[in-house]
Amino acid sequence: MSEMIQFTLNGAERSVAAEPDLMLIDVIRDVFNLTGTKHGCDNATCGTCTVVVNGKAVKSCNFPIEKAANAEVMTIEYLAKGTVLHPIQKAIAESGAVQCGFCTPGIVMELYGLLENKADASEAEITNVLSKHLCRCTGYEPIRNGALMAQKLMQARAAAK
Ligand code: FES
Ligand code: FES
Repeated sequence: MSEMIQFTLNGAERSVAAEPDLMLIDVIRDVFNLTGTKHGCDNATCGTCTVVVNGKAVKSCNFPIEKAANAEVMTIEYLAKGTVLHPIQKAIAESGAVQCGFCTPGIVMELYGLLENKADASEAEITNVLSKHLCRCTGYEPIRNGALMAQKLMQARAAAK
């Protein structure tokens, strides 16, 4: 039976009538038309559907909407402010980590979940979260370099405040 589920999506209060086992990715894409979050494997393996819920990266293909009740959900569409990219987006783009770009939103949100909470994350921690993501194009080294660049940009941004 469907129930009304309320949550915050990219800073706005939202509600949706849904079966509790409907996955978050389907609400994000099909109800709210935020198509930056991508369907890949749909079995919690590839990471391309990653969004941030209450500050933590989650795989939205494996996250029933009922778990998002009263939560703060953030998707890739929320990161850039106008034409100004978030430092993670800027670093990933400038490091050559975007080829087809299909994996990119999930990787950016994964790094957001880590680095916004832990600016001094170790290289091993960064490598560990990136290991949750599959990329068919880049060979992973540019993604890793982009993640390290993103961390430096975010640390510089914090120091400038
Ligand atoms: S689509 Fe969710 S992990 Fe692959
Ligand atoms: S850039 Fe194509 S899958 Fe990663």
